Amino acid sequence: MYRTHTCGELRLTDAGKTVTLAGWVQRARDLGGMTFVDLRDRFGITQLSFNMERDKGLCEQARQLGREFVVQATGTVRERESKNLNIPTGEIELIVTELKVLNAAKTPPFTIEEETDGGDELRMKYRYLDLRRANIRRNFELRHRMAIEVRNYLSAQHFLEVETPVLIKSTPEGARDFVVPSRMNAGEFYALPQSPQTFKQLLMVAGFDRYFQIVKCFRDEDLRQDRQPEFTQIDCEMAFVEQEDILRTFEGMAKHLFQAIHGITFDGAFPRMSFDEAMKGYGCDKPDLRFGMKFQELNDLAQGKGFKVFDEAELVVGINAEGCAGWSRKQTDGLIDFVKRPQIGATGIVFVKWTEEGLKSTVDKFFTPEQLQAWADRFGMKQGDLLCIMAGKADKTRKQLNELRLHIGDQLGLRDPKVFKPLWVVDFPLLEQDEETGRWHAMHHPFTAPKPEDAQKLFDQVDLGSVRANAYDLVINGTEIGGGSIRIHDRTMQEAMFRVLGFTDEDARYKFGFLMDAFEYGAPPHGGAAFGFDRWVSLFGHRTDIREFIAFPKNNAGRDTMIDAPSRIDDVQLQELGLIVKG
Ligand code: AMO
Repeated sequence: MYRTHTCGELRLTDAGKTVTLAGWVQRARDLGGMTFVDLRDRFGITQLSFNMERDKGLCEQARQLGREFVVQATGTVRERESKNLNIPTGEIELIVTELKVLNAAKTPPFTIEEETDGGDELRMKYRYLDLRRANIRRNFELRHRMAIEVRNYLSAQHFLEVETPVLIKSTPEGARDFVVPSRMNAGEFYALPQSPQTFKQLLMVAGFDRYFQIVKCFRDEDLRQDRQPEFTQIDCEMAFVEQEDILRTFEGMAKHLFQAIHGITFDGAFPRMSFDEAMKGYGCDKPDLRFGMKFQELNDLAQGKGFKVFDEAELVVGINAEGCAGWSRKQTDGLIDFVKRPQIGATGIVFVKWTEEGLKSTVDKFFTPEQLQAWADRFGMKQGDLLCIMAGKADKTRKQLNELRLHIGDQLGLRDPKVFKPLWVVDFPLLEQDEETGRWHAMHHPFTAPKPEDAQKLFDQVDLGSVRANAYDLVINGTEIGGGSIRIHDRTMQEAMFRVLGFTDEDARYKFGFLMDAFEYGAPPHGGAAFGFDRWVSLFGHRTDIREFIAFPKNNAGRDTMIDAPSRIDDVQLQELGLIVKG
């Protein structure tokens, strides 16, 4: 037996027992007559104690131990003289009588401590060492607990966990596919699922009624802090449901998780906001409701007074930064620099501040104090506040002001990761149009149904921009945690949708004939949602980078630097697959 206990287990009540522990050397301290070794495993740290007088040989052996050596120690549990009450095992130590090195270790390239000296690249290359750090390990304990709670909740709601295949045909979710060549079918490729969307719908046709899966999805898209090329969804589908049933079910799941993981109870239903309201009020479809600063439009008050920037703009819109009137010139210039960054691309900000001397703006010569007061009233502005106003093309300006709002929110410390503000965004448009090509794209995915009252527009291909969908997103703290919709379950409607999206009938049949065929064999009305599990876990872990919650993530170039993937394959393999690599 390698060990009788873990390194996190022993307490004062175990004093006097003879035990064997195994683990990694966190640190060895040589105090001359005494040597102390902190022995670590997943469960905690226990102090091993060696005494020159008691056993010189053993003590010298302990002195030789390097960081991260794997050792086994047998001894007697004893009450410690100087206790460390910061750790659960801190009242005892092990008086070692036998020590065995199970494996030596090279000095690790960075310190295995919560506050490590290792940079990102290095930690990813040696991820197995990084994962030894207690704070990172805790992320996976959280992930595990959340997965269990998800399964508990959904099982209690009669959802069936079903695995769907990974080698499939393209399931469009708006990203590029990762493809896998088929050796047995030369010249043909599988696509890895961007989501199990079509399969879960087929499971509804199969009569499974309620399906879920905690499942890997693959998307070849640009990476960000909250995006990985392979990530995990809590994927769900339900038959015989309307939007309301789905929102109720998954709001229940969210509340269950909040309660089980954080002990937070939400009274009443999560707030809901239409897509239009979100775009007009916050400039994005995932508003962070931890703070206010809702947009107010000023076209009627600010245009026609001779200030060209406003007069020529499609939209004049602003936010009220409460309590910021005292910001220095340097601070407000900082805001202008922020919005002028190429990623944001704005030309500037008009400021109005309300100080003891009254309202003062950067455009005073165009507007009377009464006119400025009318602006202030619209925002419910008080003395001490600062208005930030932007103008230009409507969509673009809203996006830019959204960035500014979040930036100011950050600066004012209003985005506390320990506060949670969930929100359903509903009534998404079914389609969006590419400005350049004029082509229509599915805003969610091509399987989303139009609201019944808008369905005819799809068949007639008229007024497509106004077609709404029973589609919804769950947003928490400005992060899109999940989304879903009521689906099309009728062949003619699905065909009409593909036509709108520019597919020929032949192409649609080639790509999705299997689904449309299934719709002809008694497909029940159905709908569902999928939640980004990595995102949800990192949100609950109060962090923004999902990589900290993925055991072996990819870097921003989509590489796993530890195993060095992607990598070339040899000529024989290429030949078998019928592939030629150019360049
Ligand atoms: P959607 O594309 O909105 O919907 O994805 C659902 C949720 O998955 C998460 N997510 C990601 N997380 C990490 N990295 C990524 N690259 C990534 N892409 C998406 C987000 C998102 O809200 N089949 C539909 C769901 C449905 O209609 O039922 C779908 O996949 O949190």
